[in-house]
Amino acid sequence: MKKAFAVSLSLVSLIFILSNFTVPEVHSFVMMVVGSEPDLPSDPFTYDDVEFPEHLFNLNEEIGYEGGGRDTFALSVLDNDKATLGRVLFYDKKLSAMEDISCGSCHRQELSFAENKSFSEGVNSDTKRNSMHLNDLGWSNADGFTWDMRESDLHEMIILPLTDENEIGANIDDVRIKLEQTTYYPELFSNAFGSSEVNEERIVDALVQFITSMTTFNSRFDEQVIADFSDFSSQEMLGLELFSSSCNSCHTQGAHTLFGEEIFVEEDILTVFPFIFNNGLPEDPDDAGAGEWDENLSHLFKVPTLRNIELTAPYMHDGRFNSLEEVIDHYSDDVEENEWSDFFIPAGGFNFSDNEKEALLVFMETLTDDSFGTNPRWSDPFATSVGIADLPFIELKLAPNPTTDIATISFANEENKLVSINIINSSGKLMRHDQFVGYEYRIEKGSFIPGLYTIQLIMGDRKSVQRLIVN
Ligand code: HEC
Ligand code: HEC
Repeated sequence: MKKAFAVSLSLVSLIFILSNFTVPEVHSFVMMVVGSEPDLPSDPFTYDDVEFPEHLFNLNEEIGYEGGGRDTFALSVLDNDKATLGRVLFYDKKLSAMEDISCGSCHRQELSFAENKSFSEGVNSDTKRNSMHLNDLGWSNADGFTWDMRESDLHEMIILPLTDENEIGANIDDVRIKLEQTTYYPELFSNAFGSSEVNEERIVDALVQFITSMTTFNSRFDEQVIADFSDFSSQEMLGLELFSSSCNSCHTQGAHTLFGEEIFVEEDILTVFPFIFNNGLPEDPDDAGAGEWDENLSHLFKVPTLRNIELTAPYMHDGRFNSLEEVIDHYSDDVEENEWSDFFIPAGGFNFSDNEKEALLVFMETLTDDSFGTNPRWSDPFATSVGIADLPFIELKLAPNPTTDIATISFANEENKLVSINIINSSGKLMRHDQFVGYEYRIEKGSFIPGLYTIQLIMGDRKSVQRLIVN
């Protein structure tokens, strides 16, 4: 492989030297920084084992989920090699003209693939809207993408950021040349598609596979649905009830057919009306939402999934609210009447008491999947360390490692904070999720088959990732 490359390199130089004696030709210049290679597991992570929880299939008005049906289709066509290629492409700055930006720059894993700014820095200027979280796109509100839902197909949608001059700005011909010259893409494309040919369709397909695999079915909410909410506090229960009665009509997950496949706008019937709303924000003079592509849908915006919403501040299409508290205050006290929200939100707002506001907040926090933000299968293969913004655990020890029986992980926890632990196997599957207060956790070999496991610990703003070998 290396040899062939060297030979072709000398051939190229020979042609180059010879061509100096002929009329010079103008070649377009493709910038290529020789950068690091992705760190990939020898066997690809597993992406195709997504099990759609039963509770998302059935009509269940109480918990606010209604039939997955056709929206789950995307998950059934996942392929490990394609998603692996998608993962590398998603984080590879080589795709951008100046090699300085990737999808992962505006969509950050630890923030459920959103960004913590109202607007993101693009190549030349800030983005016009707030970067969207990408969890659960394969099935939740999968009828339309971007805040104005102008793209109904995820493949078409991905071409926008890929080629938008202010986002990735990829020139596909340049990208093809660049990717073909790397040491890693020819093999990744071959594994995924049977040949090393690089083209737009394959790039997009792989990116769609990677994004579609991002699901958050390990939240406390999911656990508790299965357990019939037996461990939900009375405050969480109140939050769930308020959510079901006030928010659910729009923020349902799974089914969007409830709201007229056909609706009348003046005399025309708009077929396949997208599941899109106005939630009582004042009209945005700079952004008409779906009105940008259909004037009948002026000031309507996509209803995003609220899974992992705790991680994705700031909120709304323009990132106007910095916290979920501000969002709840809006729905409670500041809703502007309009023909689109009227039916669902009382004029003025729901008028929640302080107690109810707190309960809604606590309920929304149960929709967080802690393992999502650090799961290696969605992580940056070019990154060498855990997020620099995170503080490490103090006095952390994991012993014995390798273990054959019981390993103990210990650390300082003087303030007695709540600690989350996730144990993930070498295919990226979450094997255990636990929460405890203390400075020590015992991992019994029990059901863990021999192999390498990733152990993630989260305590407030401290995070640690350890590897444990089970023999
Ligand atoms: C410069 C920042 C930036 C970059 C780079 C970027 N995005 Fe985005 N992304 C955004 C913004 C902003 C939106 C919302 C756009 C809108 O509503 O008009 C968005 C929306 C999306 C959505 C729609 C989500 C939904 O719920 O409808 C997807 C999917 C997406 N981006 C994927 C990608 C992929 C894949 C890449 C790399 C090829 C990428 N993005 C690169 C900022 C970015
Ligand atoms: C009439 C439909 C509707 C109802 C009812 C509704 N929402 Fe929304 N929600 C939306 C829309 C539309 C958006 C996006 C608005 C925008 O960005 O302009 C949104 C956005 C949000 C966001 C921010 C999402 C993000 O990614 O930034 C949160 C959080 C939220 N809603 C929570 C709630 C809660 C809590 C309730 C109940 C108290 C509720 N919603 C009731 C339609 C609704």
